[in-house]
Amino acid sequence: MKPDPQTKIILDTDPGGDDAFAFLWLASLIQQDLAKLVAVTATDGNVQASLTFTNACKLLQLTGLDQVEVGRGVLNPDQAMANAAMIHGHDGLGNLAHTLPVPHQNYQTARFSDEILIETLTNYPGDITIVALGPLNNLAAAEIKSPGILQAAKEIVLMGGAFRVPGNVTPEAEFNIAYNPEAAALVFNQCQNLVILPLDVTRSLIFTPEMANDISQNAPDQPITQFIQSLCQSMSKASLAHRETQGIQGFLVHDAVTLAYLFYPETLQFYRARTDVETVGQFTRGRTLADFRHQTKLPANAWVAATVDPVNLLACLIEDLKCLGTFS
Ligand code: BDR
Ligand code: CA
Repeated sequence: MKPDPQTKIILDTDPGGDDAFAFLWLASLIQQDLAKLVAVTATDGNVQASLTFTNACKLLQLTGLDQVEVGRGVLNPDQAMANAAMIHGHDGLGNLAHTLPVPHQNYQTARFSDEILIETLTNYPGDITIVALGPLNNLAAAEIKSPGILQAAKEIVLMGGAFRVPGNVTPEAEFNIAYNPEAAALVFNQCQNLVILPLDVTRSLIFTPEMANDISQNAPDQPITQFIQSLCQSMSKASLAHRETQGIQGFLVHDAVTLAYLFYPETLQFYRARTDVETVGQFTRGRTLADFRHQTKLPANAWVAATVDPVNLLACLIEDLKCLGTFS
C-alpha cells in the first residue's frame, strides 16, 4: 500500500553528510508524489547554524526544491559539546559544498526555525510529520515559546539515541542527543508522538562506494549522481579513520532511516515504551533510556526501533536515488 501522498513533512536537519542522503531520498519520494516538503528547519549541530542553513539551501537548489523555505537554527546555549566536522568536513558536506549551486535564501534575513515550526503546526494541527535529523534545539525552542505545540505534530520521527548499544560520542550517548540533552529531554517529556530511530538500528546501515557507483551508472554526468559519489567517498574516508564502520569502506547513513520508517516500514521493528534522557550524570549525560518492560507504568511516549533489515532498507534507498538521477 502506498503512503498517503499528502504526507506533509517539515525536515529539521543539520546537513551533514548522512543528512544529505536523507535529503536526497526525500527529494526522490517528493518527485514520485509520495510526500510534500512544507519547510526545512535547519539546526545547529554537525556544523554551525549558518553552515547547516546554507547546506540545506544548496541541497534544495540541487534537487529543484528551492521554493521551500529554510529556517535558521536556534543556537544551542550549551557550547560544551564539540560539533561533528571531523566526520562531515569543515563545511558539513564533506568539503564539497562549494561544488553545489549558490542558494538564493539568505541566512541573515531568514526566519528562525522555531518560528516556522510554531506557525506551521498551528496552521495544520495533526497534519504535519516532523522528521528530525539533528540535535533537538529548534523543537525544544518551539515548545518553550508555545507550550503544547509539538503535540500538534502528527508524528515526530527522529534519529537519535542509543538504547541497547554504546553511544558514538561518549560510551553512553549518541551525538544528536548529547549535543543538547536538555532540549532532547524537554521534547521527550512533552510528547507522546515520538518515533525514535536510534544507533541500535543505524549502526548496520553502511552505504558503500559500490552502491554510489550503482546509482550513478545510468546518469554518470548528472550533478546529483556526481555529488552522491563524491560525498560517499569523502564520508567513507572520514568514517574509516574514525572506526565507524568496522573496517568496511563506507559510511553510516543514520538519518536516512527516518524515511525508511515513513515509506518502507516493513524494514523496521519497534517497541512502544516510555523513554527519557539523562541530563545530569557525570558519565552518562545524554544517554537515552527506555522502559522496555513497562515496569514504571508511566505513559509511553515513543515507538523505538529495535531491529532493522539493512539489506532491504539500503536496496530501497538505492532504487529511489536512481530515480532522482533520472529526474534532474
Ligand atoms: C547523528 O549524528 C550526526 O553526526 C549525524 O548526522 C546523525 O544525525 C548520528 O549519531
Ligand atoms: Ca544529522
